[in-house]
Amino acid sequence: MRLDRFLIRRGIHSTREVSRLLSEKQVIVDHLVETSGLRKIDRFTRIEVNGEILQAQEAVYLMLHKPAGYLSATSDPIHPTVIDLIEHPLREQIHLAGRLDRASTGLVLLTNDGRWSKRVTEPRQQVAKVYQVTTLDPISAETAAIFASGIYFAYENLTTRPAELELLGEREARLTLHEGRYHQVKRMFHAVGNRVLSLHREQIGPLTLDASLPPGKARSLRPDEINFFRL
Ligand code: URA
Repeated sequence: MRLDRFLIRRGIHSTREVSRLLSEKQVIVDHLVETSGLRKIDRFTRIEVNGEILQAQEAVYLMLHKPAGYLSATSDPIHPTVIDLIEHPLREQIHLAGRLDRASTGLVLLTNDGRWSKRVTEPRQQVAKVYQVTTLDPISAETAAIFASGIYFAYENLTTRPAELELLGEREARLTLHEGRYHQVKRMFHAVGNRVLSLHREQIGPLTLDASLPPGKARSLRPDEINFFRL
């Protein structure tokens, strides 16, 4: 939204009055004087006019090291959820930017900014997700080629996008997906006759799980990390 339109909507009576406030340097946007009504703002932009704060909604962006046993949901009558692990004062407003199964561990992103989380999760953005997987049986030599050409999921009637599999051991691999279908990693291994024993997400796009973050702990994202998913 444009700043001048926001000001009119918030009770400043005319475009002339908006122009006057701007030219008299009475409008402060994110703590700096703003003189252009064309400035783009959103619901997280801090706006002050004549000393009165019209809007000051904090945007929250967190990375969580999810432990096993927590549901990727905001509330649940039976199981603890990832939100239960968050100590932030605005935790009631927070939602997940992409889920992990209850038994899976690793990187989960949380925010109260719906536009940002959409960019992380929207299928057309094709944000890469990197998983470390251990399996019950040895991973066969053909698996990488099969995953690269895609696997047909009858339930959704689609073929998965090419995925990259890097073998790390006989029963251990790093898998990079460019989409996030329901139980996708487990179903892909199931399709080649194997079974996932553990699944850990290391990375979402360019964002890597902080090695110093113990399971169950979250930290705020840095501005450069938030900007990875801005236009
Ligand atoms: N694929 C799965 O099967 N489980 C996850 O938690 C994430 C991707």
